[in-house]
Amino acid sequence: MKIGVDYYPEQWDRALWEKDAEVMARTGVKLVRIGEFAWSRLEPREGEYDFGWLDEVIGIFSRYTIGTVLCTPTNCPPLWLYEKHPEMIQVGGDGRQIRTGIRGHRCINSPVFREYAKKINTQLIRRYAGNKAVAAWQIDNELEAYLCTCEVCRGKFREWLIEKYGSVECINQAHGNSVWSGEYSSITQVQPPTDYPKAWQNPALCLDWYRFTCDSTEDFVRDTMMTIRMEDAKVPITTNTWLCENTPDFYKLFEPLDFVSYDNYPPVRIPDDPEEFYSHAFHLDLMRGVKNKNFWVMEQLSGATGSWAPMSPAPKPGMIMGYALQAMVHGADTVMHFRWRTALTGAEMHWHGILDHSNTPNRRFLEFCELCRRVSQLGILDGTYIQSDIAILYSPEADAAFKIQPQTEGFYYFQQLKAFHAAFSHFGANIDVVSPEADLSRYKVVIAPSLYVYKKSVTENIYRFVVNGGTVVLTARSGAKDENNNCIMDTLPTVFKELVGAEVSEYDPIGSEKRIIRDFAGNEFECSQWCDILKLNTARAYAEYNDGDHRCMPAVSMNRYCSGVAYYVGTVCKSDFYESLASNLMMQTGIPKLKGLPRGMEVTTRTNGRDEYICFFNNSDKPAVMPLPKPMFSVINSAGKDRLELKPFEMDIVKK
Ligand code: GLA
Ligand code: ZN
Repeated sequence: MKIGVDYYPEQWDRALWEKDAEVMARTGVKLVRIGEFAWSRLEPREGEYDFGWLDEVIGIFSRYTIGTVLCTPTNCPPLWLYEKHPEMIQVGGDGRQIRTGIRGHRCINSPVFREYAKKINTQLIRRYAGNKAVAAWQIDNELEAYLCTCEVCRGKFREWLIEKYGSVECINQAHGNSVWSGEYSSITQVQPPTDYPKAWQNPALCLDWYRFTCDSTEDFVRDTMMTIRMEDAKVPITTNTWLCENTPDFYKLFEPLDFVSYDNYPPVRIPDDPEEFYSHAFHLDLMRGVKNKNFWVMEQLSGATGSWAPMSPAPKPGMIMGYALQAMVHGADTVMHFRWRTALTGAEMHWHGILDHSNTPNRRFLEFCELCRRVSQLGILDGTYIQSDIAILYSPEADAAFKIQPQTEGFYYFQQLKAFHAAFSHFGANIDVVSPEADLSRYKVVIAPSLYVYKKSVTENIYRFVVNGGTVVLTARSGAKDENNNCIMDTLPTVFKELVGAEVSEYDPIGSEKRIIRDFAGNEFECSQWCDILKLNTARAYAEYNDGDHRCMPAVSMNRYCSGVAYYVGTVCKSDFYESLASNLMMQTGIPKLKGLPRGMEVTTRTNGRDEYICFFNNSDKPAVMPLPKPMFSVINSAGKDRLELKPFEMDIVKK
């Protein structure tokens, strides 16, 4: 496992490069990431390349045994290129071109942009292919599901629709365009959704637009990957992603790439309310699940964040070390901190790096030095991996469709995933977050919240899992839409009715109103947002509404189906319900539980197939004490222990 930093030599005086490399090497930094915004320095004028400075930088770092992650610089085309080809500037949902001089404002579908991108990338890659100092390639920076609406993108979207549906008539049919005289008589009438409120736009069109934008991003990544592979056959290739409004389909995006990398900025304010499901571990598990293997953090929280927004509080003592180790135990082989030093100029001058503007050692720097030392002693975890009995399914399509049509006040797709994640975490379980199309045969329990948009392969995958003895949990809004994001003339949960042995006789989107449900054992839980009133066929009631209009009607059901079990949760509850359900599921499926974990204590178990290491992370701002089930050996301070005492954000790792 390695610690690195993001570094911008083009923003610093040449005289600093060597000094920085020297300090980094003494600190224990093993990698720098360079170049994602540096196109204007690499090609100052059309066809005039300058790699001298980059040769020097890579050379300096390599003399200090620091490897380089090189980036293709396509996020920021130089201004001479925009001046020559203004048609490649991104057009927003309001139909207006974005102002240049910001960043990321190129249209990735523009053939002109693609041609220039290919030229600079080819020069860059050719120059450094075979250079032992280059550890990985990063494509561009934080590519989103791209939302450009320029003429080229409109044209491509129309081609994409024709390719998918065959004819304008079939598009009309699939999108249900008889509503509001929306029928196309010619493909030229197709327009992407605009910034105009989504509520007034066709959800079928919006979902296809999302799919098209994901495909565009994937196409750009694949194309760049091929350019790299033509010149450099060996060095692994990635791109850095994040959780943004226009989240790309991570599974598609990373399909052609060697590994996933993620930009990790856990919030520094710990919410008092446990219902906020504060667990950054969920995002890390989501990233590990994209390719079902270890990943990198390409940018990691290093200081107070802000610039365009008011600055956040600085990371609390322990967070620099704790959050990097948290990422590592959840599967990050390498953690690169953003950034070595805070910028003096430019729009992000208040997004703090490890070092402040003053360039003098500060509290965070000292903690970072300690982190590098700690990581160098954790070789024992190299090659270990996480094995989980539990999977939570994340569907990019459901996520997108819920953004297009929020169901009811407070209903938030990710919140359901996080609620289940928090519940199983409360018992110290490893959890995978994977695609609904992943191989589920290795799991005992699969949580599939709100599989809202139909996909044949996903439905079959869920049935197969239960037929083979698995336990699945579905929740409200499952099966609600067909593959075009249209409603279905059938009782809910449509395709899952047989599996769950129950159907929704009525639903009530209660939003912020509160109701009570009571489970089979008499426990009561508060619920809100959504109430499915269930009619039981072969299923039994697990919980019923205990007040209001739906009193005594089933809210949660349980059905034996072939050799497996299918639960259906028709409402949205607070954490105590999910914890109780998780506890029951773990008991029934024989998944071991760690009891008595203090709030905020996160547990991850890693194995190399022979030995197991349990990582305890106190993700809270209060000290925590935790008795161990038996005396264990701490690999952090080489001592036997029968209890752990952890400071805020401290981690201990014991051998089982
Ligand atoms: C993102 C980007 C970085 C930087 C940071 C901080 O993660 O990739 O270039 O802008 O945010 O804002
Ligand atoms: Zn465009």
